[in-house]
Amino acid sequence: MNGSWAEIDLAKFDANIKCVRAALRRETSLMLVVKANAYGHGLCEIVKQAAASGVTWFVTAYATEARAIREILPHVRILVLGAVHPDDAPELAALNITPVVVSEEHGLALSAVARAAGIKLKVHLKVDTGMGRFGVPWADVARVFERLSRSIALEFEGICTHFASVEIKKPSLGPSQMDRFVEVCGQADHFAGRKLFRHASSSRAFLYHDPWDLDGVRPGILLYGYGAGETLMRVKTEPILQWKTHVMQAKRVSAGTTVGYYSTHVTPLPTTIATIACGYADGYHRALSNKGCVLIGGRRCAIIGRVSMNWITVDCGPDSNVKFGDEVVLIGRQAGEEIWAGELARQARTIAYEILTSIDNTVPRKYS
Ligand SMILES: Cc1ncc(COP(=O)(O)O)c(C=O)c1O
Repeated sequence: MNGSWAEIDLAKFDANIKCVRAALRRETSLMLVVKANAYGHGLCEIVKQAAASGVTWFVTAYATEARAIREILPHVRILVLGAVHPDDAPELAALNITPVVVSEEHGLALSAVARAAGIKLKVHLKVDTGMGRFGVPWADVARVFERLSRSIALEFEGICTHFASVEIKKPSLGPSQMDRFVEVCGQADHFAGRKLFRHASSSRAFLYHDPWDLDGVRPGILLYGYGAGETLMRVKTEPILQWKTHVMQAKRVSAGTTVGYYSTHVTPLPTTIATIACGYADGYHRALSNKGCVLIGGRRCAIIGRVSMNWITVDCGPDSNVKFGDEVVLIGRQAGEEIWAGELARQARTIAYEILTSIDNTVPRKYS
């Protein structure tokens, strides 16, 4: 009864993985993105289940996440998307963790450390085809790769890019990015003297552009059950995380009752207010003040007043018999009613990714 908790359905996760896997050609790798604590779902349990469901490639943002996976799974492939520190090169090579090379300087620095340590480091080249974040600008790839591929301490195994936008009904940068990527892949293959392992697609590109699957796809959000809202999609996955808590106090109030900091809500009629155990310190967005809903007793109850640090006040209605200890669903399903992260994201003017990754790491995760 302390606070909120998250319930993660590993059987649904397994089903999501199998459904995406089944849509891919057999020779295309499914590279599961598990950064940000597996999008808030808990890294360790998620990678264990994914490996049991047949995933052999994992993708992280940082080397620390990659090390944590390696401790659990000695044989899977792990790619680190962020710019790893060159000093980490020997350890990464020893752990068979593959970093991306994000620039010429980064590649040269990794090469220098690897060479001094007498090791060969497997790497993927990150190409910036328009995202403007990490990567060698596509126009420079031939020159940079020509130079880096001469290093005896780097083994270029793969080449990748990341889409800035993929749309189905309106123009987006995706198709131009893909054209640029295919062109530079040809140049890199030429200097490497062999075909590099190519990967580009995250969830949206996977959903709407089968030909962009290449040798591997890197979806994240889709496997956690989001991002497939539109029609015409290639697969349908289901959310696997529910977030729940309890009612800590229920009270009948008269019309004209002020609720929460700065009294941003005044009850228009007599009603029942429940105070529930969760707040912005747990990762529940304060932007949902006077906007979001929770489920209690199978009914939608509107958040009234400001979301505070540890508590939220909701309107259960005049006829409610809500009481101390009742279960509350913040994200999930209760008696046929549903609230998913996509709904909260629209109300908080953000994206489901942020709703999920905001759930504080102190919130216990329960797996079934
Ligand atoms: C480089 C890269 N690849 C793949 C992904 C996965 O994206 P999504 O969760 O939209 O599938 C991300 C997510 O941020 C990313 O940064």
